[in-house]
Amino acid sequence: MQSDARIHLTDIKKTLVHGRLSRRLRMHGLTSFRDYVRMVQSPGEERAAMVVALTTNHTHFFRENHHFEHFREKVIPTLKDAVRRRPVRIWSAGCSSGEEVYTIAMCLLGKDRGQAGWLRDADLKLLATDLAPHVVDSVRQATYPDNVVAAIPADYRKAWLRPAAGSDHEMAPEARALVTAHVLNLFEAWPMRQQYDAIFCRNVMIYFDDRAKAELEARLVDQLAPGGHLYIGHSERLVGPAAAVMKGCGQTIYVKQEGGTR
Ligand SMILES: C[S@@+](CC[C@H](N)C(=O)[O-])C[C@H]1O[C@@H](n2cnc3c(N)ncnc32)[C@H](O)[C@@H]1O
Repeated sequence: MQSDARIHLTDIKKTLVHGRLSRRLRMHGLTSFRDYVRMVQSPGEERAAMVVALTTNHTHFFRENHHFEHFREKVIPTLKDAVRRRPVRIWSAGCSSGEEVYTIAMCLLGKDRGQAGWLRDADLKLLATDLAPHVVDSVRQATYPDNVVAAIPADYRKAWLRPAAGSDHEMAPEARALVTAHVLNLFEAWPMRQQYDAIFCRNVMIYFDDRAKAELEARLVDQLAPGGHLYIGHSERLVGPAAAVMKGCGQTIYVKQEGGTR
């Protein structure tokens, strides 16, 4: 776990690990953890499934809303200007089932459909990535039940969600068209070559130890364009040397200094 996804499991997590892996044991008809450990000792399908089983995918729309207020007020106006001259890219890293990336999409599209005109021919894309394939599938499906969409303010919900099968709701095509979702372990090689105008990596680093956090932070900062913003979770802090090129500009919001390289 520590070597595959850098998720740091302390003794406090024993019950959680036991509960989640017991299900995997049952699936394989195993009765002892020793046999399961033997099964996952070498890389393979079950080892990947074990890593996924140990991830926590809790998320919701407009989570930590002060980030989206900042994004709307301070970042979107500069993106509107920038996209007339160059492509604009935003990344939800550790996106879980997509509530974060579609919140970003709705902020960009605006509170009513009339505000979305600037995006029509704009080269603006949102990337959503996660280690767990089942949540990446959910991003691609973009369909959420009643109790999940309840967290979306009424004006955004009215503008950008459509009724779907049963009591589900589907993100409008304009929101879906902005988003591409991929499976990506943040500790493996990143295929993206371009830099990002904003990166949301929230409530992901809490699971890593300080060394892994510093390593990931440095890579995220390298992937940010100068002047780009990094949003991290409410209980997270920048702990490594990358912090030197980042300036705090709100609660758990950082901007990369112009000309800032590590
Ligand atoms: C608690 S969710 C946070 C979702 C969203 N960012 C938010 O704040 O609402 C954490 C997500 O990070 C993902 N994750 C954990 N370790 C990862 C890694 N090494 N690479 C990519 N994603 C990872 C998990 O699969 C999970 O979906």
